[in-house]
Amino acid sequence: IYPQELNLNNKNYSTDSWTNVNENILSRIGLNLHQQKNHPLYHLTNRLRKYFYQFYDQKKSSPKFSIIDNLSPIVTTEQNFDSICIPINHVSRTKSMNYYINQNTLLRAHTSAHQVDLIRSGLNAFLCIGDVYRRDDIDPTHYPVFHQCEGVQLFTKEELFIGNKNVLGDKDNLEIFGPNEQRDATKQEGHTLEAVKLVEASLKKTITDLFKTLLPNTSILNSRWVDTTFPFTHPSWEYEIEIDGKWYELLGCGIMEHRVLENSGLNKDHIGWAFGLGLERIAMIMYGIPDIRLFWTNDSGFLSQFVFDDSTHSIQYKPISIYPQCINDLSMWMGKTKIDPSDFYDLVRAIGGDLIEQVILIDEFYNPKNQRYSQTYRIIYRSMDRTLTKNEINMIHKDIEYHCKQQFGVEIR
Ligand code: PHE
Repeated sequence: IYPQELNLNNKNYSTDSWTNVNENILSRIGLNLHQQKNHPLYHLTNRLRKYFYQFYDQKKSSPKFSIIDNLSPIVTTEQNFDSICIPINHVSRTKSMNYYINQNTLLRAHTSAHQVDLIRSGLNAFLCIGDVYRRDDIDPTHYPVFHQCEGVQLFTKEELFIGNKNVLGDKDNLEIFGPNEQRDATKQEGHTLEAVKLVEASLKKTITDLFKTLLPNTSILNSRWVDTTFPFTHPSWEYEIEIDGKWYELLGCGIMEHRVLENSGLNKDHIGWAFGLGLERIAMIMYGIPDIRLFWTNDSGFLSQFVFDDSTHSIQYKPISIYPQCINDLSMWMGKTKIDPSDFYDLVRAIGGDLIEQVILIDEFYNPKNQRYSQTYRIIYRSMDRTLTKNEINMIHKDIEYHCKQQFGVEIR
């Protein structure tokens, strides 16, 4: 059923018995919802950017974190699994969990696939944001494509211990690595407990403060760190928050496995934390979006609710109808002074009530000959509980025209 080669992003990939991508999944590559202006994931990305840009590196005179949000989701199995120590027989490698292009190439299952490349390129603190792909059943909270933000911060001995002088006092014999350190529940072999604890504190403070900023209204509720395991971190935690008696897992994180740093070309001079969070999950909580499939809609009833310039603006999403929109334009001549659009919006809503979904000024010009302004408004009608008939809409539309003439003295074109 597959051609011998698939052409993706202008590159040819040979197919084989591992190939299991489909048209629908491939069509998502390059959409980059997190870069689409005014998309809810775009606003969340801006908020992450803003939060992490506040940390400043005095030595480099630049923000501490670099933000990379444009890496291709087509990666090698080496990047997605081997580079971060996922064992050869691990379940997360199976065909039933991933979208393979061929035996050695897949759509990344997590942004952790880029940890090693980014560290190799010289970064020691970064976010990596992008679309990730997992074979999954579709339901209100699961979709086979979603977006993640990876965060990584590395520390040298100096950064870790001098940066924490007030906690530690003036000790100068502190080390990240010790010759006799064993792996146990609290740390990896080689790591000293004092180094691990300081990195853990930095990680947990960074995350808790982030969610206090993103979800100020829910921060009063409970949150908790749950022990877990990942092949690329140890120790590892999940961060959960409680909303209305329900616990939501927001991210996975931990102290990076030293072998991952070795794979990145570093010797025994760094220790770091990493986290990976799902953007959709957080945006759903932040905006009250009830269904993950809505992130993919082109319905302007959804998208228009997120049109604002300040990404920190907080809104609650109002459910859109499953019934179709009906679009009617209204053009009118007015005098030398034009109608204030908000007066027009009020009039339309006063007449059409809840059947008016959106009102948009789509055209305006001045005709110097007869010294008159013209405006065209687009009115989008939609009901929450039924399909509106043409007749019904025409009656409301005529009523709006009538009241416009009465109230503003305009001439309908
Ligand atoms: N990659 C993990 C996931 O997708 C999340 C994670 C990232 C956990 C970094 C720990 C450190 O589930």
